[in-house]
Amino acid sequence: MRDITVRNPLDMHLHLRDDDMLCLVAPLSAGTFSGGLVMPNLVPPITNLQILHRYKSMIADAIGENSFKPYMTMFYRNYDREFIKNIKESITAMKLYPAGITTNSDSGVSSFDIDTMRPTLETMSELNIPLCVHGETDGFVMDREAEFMDIYETLATAFPKLKIIMEHITTKAATKIVQKYDNLFATVTAHHLLLTLDDLAGGLLKPHLFCKPIAKRHDDKDALVDMATSGHRKIMFGSDSAPHPTSSKECCGCAAGVFTAPIAIQLMAELFIKNDKNIDQSEQNLQKFMSDNAINIYGISPPPKSITLENKEFIVPKIYKNKQNEVTPMKSGETISWRIK
Ligand code: DOR
Ligand code: ZN
Repeated sequence: MRDITVRNPLDMHLHLRDDDMLCLVAPLSAGTFSGGLVMPNLVPPITNLQILHRYKSMIADAIGENSFKPYMTMFYRNYDREFIKNIKESITAMKLYPAGITTNSDSGVSSFDIDTMRPTLETMSELNIPLCVHGETDGFVMDREAEFMDIYETLATAFPKLKIIMEHITTKAATKIVQKYDNLFATVTAHHLLLTLDDLAGGLLKPHLFCKPIAKRHDDKDALVDMATSGHRKIMFGSDSAPHPTSSKECCGCAAGVFTAPIAIQLMAELFIKNDKNIDQSEQNLQKFMSDNAINIYGISPPPKSITLENKEFIVPKIYKNKQNEVTPMKSGETISWRIK
């Protein structure tokens, strides 16, 4: 099998955390990716320019010499017009969390009343600021994303010029809705392209595969894989790599999040490149999924970076650690078939 190359790989949904954890994980993304959309669910969340600028400079320190562009997000609230005009140049998108639905989202949105949200969403639409959404209700855990589809349809219809990104989609239903409205787009993670609930809980419970939204059924995963591997222009890679200390995963009350940043691009090469016969087409679709679609959807120009992958075995480190933190990646200690050259 020949080598393959991805130009300007982008991770359009990334948790870099802060402090010591940021220092540990940021170089692992920045070494491979050209840029990433950085999530704002810190404690406290990123809700003003002062916190945002401070966080951005922490990221710059943590990535060091790597050329990596952090695309910043503001934690969505029903902000007024003046506030949004002031932050526009500093952010790439706003990220909306339903209140309490996942890690550090307690101060998210508790009502999806369109009239309450209208002034903020109309201003975002006018200023061309995309809205990224964690699309889950607080219903039965397997149905949360499916139940959110009505809210996506309402938002897409009420604000037809607003770019809405359905983050980390996990269901067949989501692959349909995203294609139905011009202003809907989606990210999908490596883990949701590879796992079902069986992998997480079908045998012994695997805490390092537990995340929100939870991995779903086989037909859901198959629909995600079909859409992503076809290079469809509306879907892009967003790892949702969400590091938690190993001690917060291997305990009673496991934190939600799968840590994939160091192996994400290798896993995607493994998924897309199935055989030598259609390697050119697969490589082109991988390029669209890992970079070109995001560039078009967000209208961004990431710093140039080419990553070449070779079809040779790579043993995933059991843990990544610095003095203060230890994180366990997905596929810890396992072998994958592509590695970065
Ligand atoms: O599993 C998750 N972990 N899902 C999210 O939406 C947030 C993330 C985190 O920040 O840990
Ligand atoms: Zn996330």
